Amino acid sequence: MKKHIVLLPGDGIGPEVTKAAKRVLEAVAERYQHTFTFESQDIGGAAIDQQGSPLPENTVEACKKADAVFLGAVGGPKWDQLPGHMRPEKGLLGIRKQLGLFANLRPVKAYQQLLHASPLKPEVVAGSDLLIVRELTGGLYFGEPSERRKNGKEVVDTLAYQKEEIERIVEKGFESARLRRKHLTSVDKANVLESSRMWREVVEEKKKDYPDVTVEHMLVDAAAMKLVTNPSAFDVIVTENMFGDILSDEASVLTGSLGMLPSASVRSDGVGLYEPVHGSAPDIAGENKANPLAAILSTAMMLKHSFQMEEEAEEIEKAVADVLQARYHTADLQITNGVQVSGSELANKVIEQLSTS
Ligand code: NAI
Ligand code: MG
Repeated sequence: MKKHIVLLPGDGIGPEVTKAAKRVLEAVAERYQHTFTFESQDIGGAAIDQQGSPLPENTVEACKKADAVFLGAVGGPKWDQLPGHMRPEKGLLGIRKQLGLFANLRPVKAYQQLLHASPLKPEVVAGSDLLIVRELTGGLYFGEPSERRKNGKEVVDTLAYQKEEIERIVEKGFESARLRRKHLTSVDKANVLESSRMWREVVEEKKKDYPDVTVEHMLVDAAAMKLVTNPSAFDVIVTENMFGDILSDEASVLTGSLGMLPSASVRSDGVGLYEPVHGSAPDIAGENKANPLAAILSTAMMLKHSFQMEEEAEEIEKAVADVLQARYHTADLQITNGVQVSGSELANKVIEQLSTS
């Protein structure tokens, strides 16, 4: 298969982890005889420095033509004093909006070697492997009106959804479950919110199209508790914007390190933006210390969700698990009797594993 991938390295450790991601994609292309072409564009602080804008027009144009986009990270102290519309983060929010990406996918997996890195008890975390599918464009964060009134003595925010917005994210939830263990938990607050009652109706309608997927409804407060008491009971969680924002940060503690968490923002036709959850880590940038695994796992998501290359994706995930099993790690992880290596060496280990499996 031929695919064109736009790389947005960005700032801080962004370029280091993007390089690791690209090398892994090249290794997969060679092994499976795919043709992946790459093109790098500026975003964030790097784009401000080069072109005077966090999201230059040529970057947007290139991303719109791409089959998938990979982003490293944006931001850093150098640009912290700039006014709001010139901040590096604007580049990230802007490109998600320009591409119409409405579903944010955040997998969280507890690797055996990292169980003690979580603040939760290892026996609670063991076996956890879940995916949160969060609605990204509607709900409380975008509803109108959102304002102060009555001389500043009253505030209002609005939680609004179009039925079609709920339908497309619920479909994404079912489709994601189909690619995994086929269990979907729909999280809402249907005992209080009208929007959640419509959410439940949509899930009930859609489940007829996915008879192979089991579905349960769960209130968000109960889900928050279960995530830290029995996380291995979840497979895929689908939920609205704010609930997903909060639950995905809560779930991230299961892994124990920011350097391990991949993510994707996608739309119905499969075009997507793939990025590690972590930021630009200015404290370690340029020292070849950054853990590339979050970036590498994000490429596996790209292969799975944008290119339907499930076998290739699983091979990357297995290579990462095998490298941890062999106790290789970067400085952000502690593994008993581990072998600490640099970021590029850890990427090499994954690539070696890919070619021997
Ligand atoms: P951060 O995620 O960049 O770093 C937090 C801590 O985790 C630091 O100690 C860092 O060294 C460590 N860390 C992060 N990723 C790592 C990796 N791959 N390997 C090893 N250690 C890693 O978050 P922070 O410090 O709050 O933000 C730094 C900058 O990044 C800010 O300008 C912020 O706005 C930006 N940011 C960008 C994001 C994005 O591009 N998606 C997301 C979050 C923050
Ligand atoms: Mg958040």
